[in-house]
Amino acid sequence: MRLLFIGDVVGSPGRRGLAAAMPELRERCQPDYVVVNGENSAGGLGITESTAQDIFDAGADLITTGNHVYRHREAYDFLDRTDRVVRPANYAHGNPGRGHAVIDGAAGRLGVVNLSGTVGLKAARNAFTEADALVERLGRDTDALMVDFHAEVTSEKVAMGWHLDGRVAAVVGTHTHVPTADGRVLPGGTAFITDVGMTGSRAGVIGVKPEGALKSLITGMPTRFETAEDDVWVMGASIEINEKGLADSIEQVLVPAD
Ligand SMILES: [Fe+2]
Ligand SMILES: [Fe+2]
Repeated sequence: MRLLFIGDVVGSPGRRGLAAAMPELRERCQPDYVVVNGENSAGGLGITESTAQDIFDAGADLITTGNHVYRHREAYDFLDRTDRVVRPANYAHGNPGRGHAVIDGAAGRLGVVNLSGTVGLKAARNAFTEADALVERLGRDTDALMVDFHAEVTSEKVAMGWHLDGRVAAVVGTHTHVPTADGRVLPGGTAFITDVGMTGSRAGVIGVKPEGALKSLITGMPTRFETAEDDVWVMGASIEINEKGLADSIEQVLVPAD
């Protein structure tokens, strides 16, 4: 089973870039399944049914999210209805949406779990114990599991890699929008990377135009951020999963969108 995971798609430049890059990425990575983080796909913050559809149209089988998932109120009903978009599993049980899903295709059943870090981000429950419960529950009914750990700090993400090593095929980090150079298969057989990066403009500050980001940082005043548009790159990781449900390899994906 080959899995292509793509990091946070930022706004319409990210959605267009993803669509433009996918044919070549399919050729290169030959994925059976494509999972994309879409938490920034609607105007740079949040997700809607329409931006999710754009990501599906580009070739995603399943969409993960993160802390911006509830930005657009009109998406709540969609999150409850769809079984192809997940939000962090350790959010409050009554919140819109679900925390895990299964892709069931010719290559086997891949369970996808979304978790939020709790250092610098808010979540209802501890990510590590939530991971334990879900791995136990989903493990019985799937061929492999992957976790999108949407978290702020490198230490928490590295720790999650070790926590789940040997129990899931992959732990991929998202949220910082900056790719890290530490992709590897851990000794127990879990592919791990602290952050895959984003799918968006490199001409900005993690997806927004530098002018707004700088104004905010320099003055501390409320500032309107605009999505950056130029030099869009697609960032992610290609993971090869064996019949034991563990990883044989992880290769970082960093490609210009056109
Ligand atoms: Fe993000
Ligand atoms: Fe985020």
